[in-house]
Amino acid sequence: MSGIMEHPTIVQADKHPALIVRSAEPFNAGPPPGLLSRSWQTPTELFFVRNHGTVPAIDPDAYRLTVRGRIERPLSLSLDDLRHTFPQRRVTAALQCAGNRRQEMLAVRDIPNELPWDLEAISQAEWAGVSLSQVLEYAGIGAGAAHVAFTGLDEVERRGRRFGFGASIPLAKALAPEVLLAYEMNGEPLTALHGAPLRLVVPGYIGARSVKWLGEIAVQARPSDNYFQAVAYRHFPPEVDATTAVEDEGVMLDELFVSATICAPSDGEVLPGGPATIRGYAVGHGGSPLARVELSGDGGQSWTAATLLGEQRVWAWQLWEATITLRPGAQTIIARATDCRGHTQPADVRQTWNYKGYMNNAWHQVEVQVGE
Ligand code: MTE
Repeated sequence: MSGIMEHPTIVQADKHPALIVRSAEPFNAGPPPGLLSRSWQTPTELFFVRNHGTVPAIDPDAYRLTVRGRIERPLSLSLDDLRHTFPQRRVTAALQCAGNRRQEMLAVRDIPNELPWDLEAISQAEWAGVSLSQVLEYAGIGAGAAHVAFTGLDEVERRGRRFGFGASIPLAKALAPEVLLAYEMNGEPLTALHGAPLRLVVPGYIGARSVKWLGEIAVQARPSDNYFQAVAYRHFPPEVDATTAVEDEGVMLDELFVSATICAPSDGEVLPGGPATIRGYAVGHGGSPLARVELSGDGGQSWTAATLLGEQRVWAWQLWEATITLRPGAQTIIARATDCRGHTQPADVRQTWNYKGYMNNAWHQVEVQVGE
């Protein structure tokens, strides 16, 4: 399609200077935990960024979204067509990268060639756009349709080939009203780093399915054969490593796993004895609301309920806080969550370890040094 150039400007200029940069090129960064847990809706300048390739500069006037495949009516839609044909829909949803909390897994066994995210590869925004389902219904779903595939206008290089980042989701999820073709984030037009002029937002699924700089939608019988759906973002058991993995046998990741994460205090922090406020975030399996978050200061023998802050809402994360009494010496604080569907977390990171370092939802632990 016309109107795509390499981005001429420094697109991360609108980002907060305190972001933890995991790689400069492609740009991958997230907010420091103390800032992350401060607001339910993450300000765009703090929102984490996960890029696998270029950040394309797309002329919004020349932009067209192609819809093809097992549909009755192929479409080529401008941004104005989208805005004027379909009603606007807003959804507040957390976006979490499958690699969030990979760093804890590195202590079990090395995971080469993957970003060492700590707990900052997650953020939440209010997204506005149109429901994917309405566009698909307008195109008319054809016979044999079972998956909807998406391709971005960025350029990624893998295995000697250059192509746009891609993903797919099952048709049933694609027809769910929360899945958006978003042109706004936090009440402003999408920024270049977050997928302007149009991105997919798939609430409840790993961030990799929310394709940015969306160029094409294809309705098809099978999942996408794009590298990032067919090869990467597959989940293997802990006993499989890079030498023994059979690519096709990994499970294609979709729904997020339940987890609670401690943002403050941070691991290794020195604190005075007595009552201390512990803060963090939690997500439910597949975006389900949280039922409870609990903390333990004695290795998981006893648990104290944290206060869930704000509403318990589907697709949204939940911020929480709790006060626990610290005694002098080294003390480990553990957090765990249970969601409204009854999902809870494995205790140990050795149970969640996998050779690509995805979906670490083991109990989160920080060790603090407590003075007299
Ligand atoms: N879309 C394209 N086109 N290219 C990408 O590299 N990264 C994916 C997803 N969509 C990616 C993409 C991944 S792995 C994540 S976690 C989210 O975008 C991150 O979205 P954000 O950068 O807006 O936080």
